[in-house]
Amino acid sequence: MRLILLGPPGAGKGTQAKMLTEKLGVPQLSTGDMLREAVAAGTATGKKAKAVMEAGKLVSDAIVNAIVSERLDHKDCARGFILDGYPRTLAQADALSAMLRKKRKPLQKVVELVVDDDALVERIAGRYTCAKCGEGFHDKFKQPRNAGTCDKCGGTEFKRRADDNADTLRVRLFAYYKDTAPLTGYYHAQGMLRKIDGMGDITKVKRLLAAELGKGQKRRT
Ligand code: AP5
Ligand code: MG
Repeated sequence: MRLILLGPPGAGKGTQAKMLTEKLGVPQLSTGDMLREAVAAGTATGKKAKAVMEAGKLVSDAIVNAIVSERLDHKDCARGFILDGYPRTLAQADALSAMLRKKRKPLQKVVELVVDDDALVERIAGRYTCAKCGEGFHDKFKQPRNAGTCDKCGGTEFKRRADDNADTLRVRLFAYYKDTAPLTGYYHAQGMLRKIDGMGDITKVKRLLAAELGKGQKRRT
């Protein structure tokens, strides 16, 4: 499956992509995660991206396209991928089309998670992740089964993202509506866009997404 998950900051792209990787056996390609790793490692790309990300603005198309192009060549993408947070501009969407055309592996689905702005703010404000394995949690919507211990790896340290604050979120939402929302028209015009209601709880959205992805798939016998 070659899939894009579209949606504003906090819509649940990462949460759903992580669960889908296990189900579909394809990797999650999150440009946000890749850029955060580059920042943490202090690479040349990380140094260029750090301040831009902290401000909630978009990193340049050239940097992000190069990261994705390199990542798509990894072996684990042979059976497909879930793009999370990319493309984010029309120029990135064109670049992705060109990359996939060259590889003769066209996109199969683009699914938008539709979520109200108020819910986005609440989801972003309560988000935290396991410092060891990256599993995502939420103060209200997804607490660890045992308080203070990661369900997945047993880690006991957690972290919050530097850009998850009210001021930066405003800038991120502006960037989303200005630069990324036009992608829904771009993919709609190509007959690829599907929208699902992202307002339900994590399990409900997971079910809606599975149903959408199941459409048009040949049943395995
Ligand atoms: P990125 O990391 O992509 O951040 P984002 O798009 O702002 O999206 P988020 O990760 O904030 O939200 P999400 O949809 O993944 O939500 P999540 O599943 O975590 O990008 C960060 C920065 O990197 C950008 O600002 C930019 O600077 C740069 N960047 C990245 N890609 C780029 C690109 N292509 N071009 C240029 N720059 C780029 O869920 C949020 C919380 O809600 C979690 O706590 C979760 O537990 C909870 N939750 C999830 N679903 C539900 C639900 N259904 N109900 C209740 N709670 C839920
Ligand atoms: Mg994310």
